[in-house]
Amino acid sequence: MKKTILVAGATGNLGSMICSELVKRGAVVKALIREESDLEKTAVLTQAGVEVIAVDYHNPESLKNACIGADCVVSALAGLADVIVDTQKILLDAALEAGVKKFIPSDFCTDYNVLVPGENRNFDLRREFKQYIDRTAIQATSIFNGAFADILKYNTPILNLKHKTIAYWGDKADWKLDFTTMDDTAAFTAEVAMEEHSPRYFHIASFQISANMLSEAIKLITGQHFNVQKLSDMDEFAAAIKKQRAENPSGEMELYAKWQQAQYMYSMYSTQHTILDNENYKHIDWTTATQYLRSFVK
Ligand SMILES: NC(=O)c1ccc[n+]([C@@H]2O[C@H](COP(=O)([O-])OP(=O)(O)OC[C@H]3O[C@@H](n4cnc5c(N)ncnc54)[C@H](OP(=O)(O)O)[C@@H]3O)[C@@H](O)[C@H]2O)c1
Repeated sequence: MKKTILVAGATGNLGSMICSELVKRGAVVKALIREESDLEKTAVLTQAGVEVIAVDYHNPESLKNACIGADCVVSALAGLADVIVDTQKILLDAALEAGVKKFIPSDFCTDYNVLVPGENRNFDLRREFKQYIDRTAIQATSIFNGAFADILKYNTPILNLKHKTIAYWGDKADWKLDFTTMDDTAAFTAEVAMEEHSPRYFHIASFQISANMLSEAIKLITGQHFNVQKLSDMDEFAAAIKKQRAENPSGEMELYAKWQQAQYMYSMYSTQHTILDNENYKHIDWTTATQYLRSFVK
């Protein structure tokens, strides 16, 4: 029998890709949208064969009705505590009420279980929701994909194409960072959602690459030398982020405040995936570092 998968956050970047990957795999795909959801994005979902269901997240009954018949609920919601903790709790409660067996929370990040609470605000929110979901009977599976590879395009210190620099912290020029493309993350999530049983956690990465390896790859593609530079020791980095956060209270209301971006980089340099579950599903053609870099580095 065909699997029915309900996707929350389906109008988002990752959520829409998860929907297409599910459709490709023959699932019946339902997407939760809100009154304020973008109509164009909703139309794209409908055209792709997704059944769009308008819900009010403050109305548990409408959410429960939407969840009835779903084999799995996938959350690709993005936001702060009101979304990652409060809205996901409401969605989970509705899924439980409707008898849904499986739930994939909107984690899609570095493995926060091995990081120190308080170091990364957005991971703390995921940890808070984890505590809630783990007290329920639903089968939860979190997908840890490291960073979306897209960040390599945005001239962060990790790779700055404008300044031709590649930075690292501590003595970690050879420390491998986990990057997964959004396409690969979506494909893997679709596989997990359609599986009857899956473990509590999956660790994936399209590629793992260090500052020195990145420099080699860039040289191969462009023939140019990028300056690989140490920015500071890790404890100095942590102190600088704390200071930046304290000086920018308005950032508490922003999903990707500057200090939050720095916290992500700090996390990437604090933990790495030692074992990858990439091979768990055979139908994913993982993007290599060279393939990905070639798509935007000229
Ligand atoms: N590892 C990484 O490097 C990385 C990078 C980026 C994102 N992520 C993660 O990937 C996941 C998806 O992120 P994304 O970038 O695809 O997000 P996005 O494009 O911003 O989409 C967010 C989705 O959440 C929905 N949403 C927002 N606020 C809501 C609310 N209050 N109630 C209900 N729905 C709400 C939006 O619905 P509407 O269309 O109705 O507004 C939209 O569908 C998140 O967990 C995010 O943290 C990871």
